[in-house]
Amino acid sequence: MLQLVEPEELRGALLAWFDRCRRDLPWRRTEDPYEILVAEIMLQQTRSEVVATRYEGFLERFPGVDALAEAPVESVESAWSGLGYYRRARNLHRTARILAERGALPASAAEWAELPGIGAYTSALLASRCSGESAPVLDGNVERVLSRFLASTEPPRRAAARRRLLATAARLLDPSRPGDSNQALMEVGSLVCRRGRPDCGVCPLAPGCRAFRSPGLDPRALPVAAPRRPREVRHCFTAVVHRGDELLLHRRPGDADWLAGRWHLPTVELANGEESARAAEVLAREYGGSWECDERAVLVRHAVTYRDFLVRAAVARWRPGRTTAGRSSLAWFGHGEIDGLPTSSLLSKTLDSVGVNRADPPIHSGP
Ligand code: ADE
Repeated sequence: MLQLVEPEELRGALLAWFDRCRRDLPWRRTEDPYEILVAEIMLQQTRSEVVATRYEGFLERFPGVDALAEAPVESVESAWSGLGYYRRARNLHRTARILAERGALPASAAEWAELPGIGAYTSALLASRCSGESAPVLDGNVERVLSRFLASTEPPRRAAARRRLLATAARLLDPSRPGDSNQALMEVGSLVCRRGRPDCGVCPLAPGCRAFRSPGLDPRALPVAAPRRPREVRHCFTAVVHRGDELLLHRRPGDADWLAGRWHLPTVELANGEESARAAEVLAREYGGSWECDERAVLVRHAVTYRDFLVRAAVARWRPGRTTAGRSSLAWFGHGEIDGLPTSSLLSKTLDSVGVNRADPPIHSGP
């Protein structure tokens, strides 16, 4: 019979390992809830090495909830540049406005979860770090650590598997330091229980880890993958329009199903097989005015989670129509101004593909 140490008995070893081995990251040196909030929102979808290059600059610009709440949203988006997923910046700004008006921080994970952009994972992490609530978290790293710890053969995102993993995460939390216990589990996932190269010899959880302790079980085979969602292909056409050294951009609606709220080149979707020769007509319908697109288009591929965007991009000319239809969402920007806007990697990829050098754009006459 396999003798495994119970999770509760590993709490001390997990925290001792964290105290000894954790990376010295700026958001671990603070106990200020606002600074922790900013870090955890940045870390939701951006790697810590990238967050480390932006975090302190953001806090210098917006040193507290009130400063962030009073700032125009555009300046918050501009300070978010380089982190991607700008919806987070807008939600953080809305959250700051709510907190500044209330004058008090949420007292529990349930209250954190009512704020914009704060889901189950972030609310638990914030409550554990800011108010000592024993709320366990599951991110991708913790899912891997605990799937191995339990030798679970279910994909970790399935509801039943999640419940089991969360229950184990809760048993590993030290009630006197829940925030550090959560961060320690994540850190074990980043530094020790890595996807392809687990270092079980130094793992503080090894004495209770079923995958490590079971002869014949290879921890690298866990967690098991969920069946793949079929990929969806979307066909689009993008117009690259210049006026002197300015570029015509469009702010996509906040509820668009891709690049929501981002500034991008005017782009329309074409039905599968529809000729790009029809693009001018579709652009006119969507943005107003008249459009003329070069016949030579380049193909840009852009993959986002389960979607493949096949984008034909061409240099084009646009003349606004007499009415204002469609004009409100279009604007001209100098190349130097674009860096401060919420955009996406697809913008620079498209400009590179059509041969537009941002420092030296071609001159095409616009109105
Ligand atoms: N991932 C997101 N937030 C983290 C934190 N505070 N520590 C370790 N990994 C994290």
